[in-house]
Amino acid sequence: MSLGERFERPPLPPGFDESRARERRSDPAGWRFDDAERAGVWRAITERRDIRRFRPDPLPDELLRRLLEAAHQAPSVGLMQPWRFILVREERTKAEMQALVARERLVQAERFDERARHYLDLKIEGIREAPLSICVCCDREPGREVLGRHTIRDTDLYSTCLAIENLWLAARAEGVGVGWVSFYREDDLRALLGLPERVVPVAWLCLGYPDERPSRPGLEAAGWERRRPLDELVFAERWGKRESEPRPPTIVASAYAVAPTEQPDWWRRLADEVRPGDPTAAIRVRDASDELVKPAGSLGALETLLERWAIATGTTPPSRPRAGIIVFAADHGVAERGVSLYPARVGAQVAAAAARGETAIGVLARALGAELVVADVGLSGPRVAGLVDRRVVDGSADITKGPALTAGQLRTAIETGHSLARHLAQRCDLLILGEIGIGNTTVASALLAALTRLPPEAVCGRGTGLDAQGLERKRDTVASALAANAPDGADPLECLRRLGGLEIAALVGGLLAAAAARRPVLLDGFATGVAALAACRLQPALRDYLIAGHRSAEPAHARVLTELGLEPLLDLRLRLGEASGAALALPLVGLAARLHTEMRRFDQAGVDRAGAE
Ligand SMILES: Cc1cc2nc3c(=O)[nH]c(=O)nc-3n(C[C@H](O)[C@H](O)[C@H](O)COP(=O)(O)O)c2cc1C
Repeated sequence: MSLGERFERPPLPPGFDESRARERRSDPAGWRFDDAERAGVWRAITERRDIRRFRPDPLPDELLRRLLEAAHQAPSVGLMQPWRFILVREERTKAEMQALVARERLVQAERFDERARHYLDLKIEGIREAPLSICVCCDREPGREVLGRHTIRDTDLYSTCLAIENLWLAARAEGVGVGWVSFYREDDLRALLGLPERVVPVAWLCLGYPDERPSRPGLEAAGWERRRPLDELVFAERWGKRESEPRPPTIVASAYAVAPTEQPDWWRRLADEVRPGDPTAAIRVRDASDELVKPAGSLGALETLLERWAIATGTTPPSRPRAGIIVFAADHGVAERGVSLYPARVGAQVAAAAARGETAIGVLARALGAELVVADVGLSGPRVAGLVDRRVVDGSADITKGPALTAGQLRTAIETGHSLARHLAQRCDLLILGEIGIGNTTVASALLAALTRLPPEAVCGRGTGLDAQGLERKRDTVASALAANAPDGADPLECLRRLGGLEIAALVGGLLAAAAARRPVLLDGFATGVAALAACRLQPALRDYLIAGHRSAEPAHARVLTELGLEPLLDLRLRLGEASGAALALPLVGLAARLHTEMRRFDQAGVDRAGAE
């Protein structure tokens, strides 16, 4: 289609959001009701009352239906709709319910004074008087996997309460009284109504036209309780903190507990340079995407990628992003334990070949026009030509015997990674970080186990290609390393010292430097991911700068990405390391950027502009 041609936005399927980003941006509050409608809603909220005295007149069926519909419109987690309504009209059932309630009322009344007892007397008559009772139940359906129920089991009960409130508000608007009775034992009510074990009776509601029209809650009028000032109940940022009090210095959104341990000053200095990204930049990108000639959101993960990029940098990526690749290479004492297919000396050879452009990352860097730095941060044996020589020490110590690094080595390795990445970041739009280290999936597995408290079986994979026996040996090695080092997951920096390696520590430094320079990082595989996880536990703001290049074949890498809350761009079953998976994802960044800037916009044809604005 030529640029001059008319290009109309395709019609939306019925029921879809017809608003446009442009409208929403120009009038963010434009979704509100008009004044009279809002006044009605507010009135229902403020004048909703718990009703205890009822007229005997029956409720019209059609009105009752509307009230139930209102309840059924309630929000529920995962749209699980756990509410069930038992309509009780029979006198006998209501009388039995009242007897149950009367008994419990007496049990409770023993604790109250005369005035309260008298008041409680009045309050249970409604069960018999009201022409209708509704027992609102929650069907818990055990075993049913419901979105959003995973962490908080009781979300079904909460959802049921929302249905009750909807009904209560709608009833008020219709002039119908609702009284909530809860003086009963659940088992008694279960027996009375034949509820199965899994069903929880959440409320017994009395419904009918009210024989009182209270302007205040009855308990308030009786001097039982007053409504507390709202400001007593509103805190700012932390429990107990008032809005007027000074704010805590930095508040960083975190998907996981921030390390509670005090960290050394040198670390704090590096970590504090990382500031949270700017979430409003993502909204700007979404606004712009919405104008493009495509259904909203149809570029899926590429749209997320652009939004994440914007959060990190404030804008969208260039169409040819300049990438800097750093591969940190190091050796590990634990490699002597036969946890890799390759002997330790291979690490230096691979690193040298990478620097000469002969390995996968060498080829990819060339193909992508990216600057490649291969740095020796802790190989052992003779120095190798072509590598940037930043060796901290000749390999880390065997983690099955004690800590991998001394405190000084850890600091130097992190600062080394930081300084290399800081310099490269100045010339690049993003960094691609990866590693070479024979035995480092074992080290990464041990570190992951320490950070997540997962058992060795859950964190160990075949690495470069171990057989079953080799895998068994690797698990035993990780178990020994955990036993020898007794790591405390709440102190990630110390976990890194005891179980990490020099390239992993350098990666942590590199990640911090990239983020401090507001450069996104494309993460490579398992070892890089574990380094990122340790770093995020120490500085949660870092996460805003991370993009998962791919998911590797190492099974625990999926777990690492889950912990980081990142979705990978590619899933090619790679298990190579060297930053190769991250490099393969790089073209997607440029292509996503080109789509964003070069796709035609609906308004460019002049059609929308004339019609909608
Ligand atoms: C979960 C719940 C259970 C309740 N149970 C009873 C009850 O057993 N007996 C009663 O007299 N009122 C009960 N009520 C009504 C409250 O006492 C009433 O809502 C409160 O006094 C505020 O009054 P208002 O609803 O008129 O604003 C219950 C309310 C709720 C939300």
